[in-house]
Amino acid sequence: MMACRVFGALAFGLLGSTAQAARASAASVEQTGVRQATTQAGRQRRVSVRPEGRLRGGADFGSNASTGVVIDAGSSGSRVYVFRWEPSDPAGTIVELASLRIKPGVSKHARLGGAAAAAQSLLPLLEFARAQPGVQPAETQVHFMATAGMRLIEPALQRDVLAAVEQLLIDSPFLAARPGARARVLSGEEEALYDWLSVNAALRLLGGDPERTASVTDLGGASTQLAFATLPEHVPHEVALARFGHAHVLGVSRLGLGMNEALANMLSGPSQAAMGSCLARGARATSAHGVELEGTGDYDGCRTAIRAFIEQYEARRHAGARAPPTMPSNGQWPLYLFDNFPKGAAILLNATDVPTEQALTLAQLEELGRAVCAVPEDAIRFQRPLGTAQERSPCFLGAYMVELLHGLYGFPLSPPPGSQVGVLKFVAELNGFSMNWPLGAMVFEAVYAPAAGVACA
Ligand SMILES: *[C@@H]1O[C@H](CO)[C@@H](O)[C@H](O)[C@H]1NC(C)=O
Ligand SMILES: *[C@@H]1O[C@H](CO)[C@@H](O)[C@H](O)[C@H]1NC(C)=O
Repeated sequence: MMACRVFGALAFGLLGSTAQAARASAASVEQTGVRQATTQAGRQRRVSVRPEGRLRGGADFGSNASTGVVIDAGSSGSRVYVFRWEPSDPAGTIVELASLRIKPGVSKHARLGGAAAAAQSLLPLLEFARAQPGVQPAETQVHFMATAGMRLIEPALQRDVLAAVEQLLIDSPFLAARPGARARVLSGEEEALYDWLSVNAALRLLGGDPERTASVTDLGGASTQLAFATLPEHVPHEVALARFGHAHVLGVSRLGLGMNEALANMLSGPSQAAMGSCLARGARATSAHGVELEGTGDYDGCRTAIRAFIEQYEARRHAGARAPPTMPSNGQWPLYLFDNFPKGAAILLNATDVPTEQALTLAQLEELGRAVCAVPEDAIRFQRPLGTAQERSPCFLGAYMVELLHGLYGFPLSPPPGSQVGVLKFVAELNGFSMNWPLGAMVFEAVYAPAAGVACA
């Protein structure tokens, strides 16, 4: 029987966080559930395979190279990532070999078919990872990490799903990760910290001067995260602070300020009457409480409504106290933005594709948002088909991104002379990596967890 501390304060070198308790409890799962060793074909909606040789850094791996697998269980789908690195320098040599996404997410499978069905839905992802050249399953650690979709399902079902997935991974040909890091639900703060590790690993900035690291923010459907390196004495005690090498990294997450949640809550809360300003001129909608909304396409009015909504949110979050400043002071690198940020930028830019890398100032983003709000409903067309309801409210989207970055986080509209603060880099991909938290999770497991003595015997 293995015995060790679960993933928690020790692993992150956490100095203080309200997230600790949640993390510790999420990490302890009971080992019941399915035994499953066979495979089955699954529906694979989107495949992206990266030929190893095209990636930057360390395409020539020695015979000792390590591989690792992270399954990102999101609310709308699950995605597997296969990584490879040299054990002598994991952060400096890691590459993303391949990734595959399937729909729907495990939380939906769990609701429809129970925990066993949710676990089995992952088999095509394990099969895919196993089939990658250079992957020796017996030497490849596999991690399952879930985000908002799994946070929202009822605790008993969540526990059963995690137990079933953990058993599936133990029974699979892959190397079982250390207990506590096999199957778990990430807290928002962990997501923020992994975001930071992802961007700085992709930029090859880990292990160097903390002052010379990039800040990062992501906008999900349910929550939004921000992370940057700072000095511990500048950090209010209610936020998560982790130490990676010499860098103290602050990670904050705001559940409820993700794009979908914010729009849904604004349409049903005290701000609903003001929401007409966020809809294109001529658009009509009915709010959750039956208020008839008529679009006025008023960018400034929309910003005001959003500001009031965020202020109410912050007042609840900080119980009336003034919110701590959350803007990074480090001016050497731009802010890297991913998830719905680049998707939103693609809409505002009227681009056909989500930009892999696109730099804009906040002033430019504001100009784009203002222009989109000014187009009447019957005239608005985009090159990129608008998917979700949120994307179909582009006037809201632009105003919301600007209000979050400028109003809430305090980034300036234009960078001060000689500074990158206020330069926004919208990244769907960065140096050959899909930009999202799994790269950071893998780097954590390869570099920081062993160094912190988290491995169990
Ligand atoms: C692989 O690891 C062994 C043992 O640590 C070491 O002696 C050897 O030089 C390594 N080989 C390569 C190609 O890095
Ligand atoms: C987007 O580009 C298309 C094609 O050039 C154009 O017809 C459309 O009006 C543009 N939409 C906006 C909102 O600028």
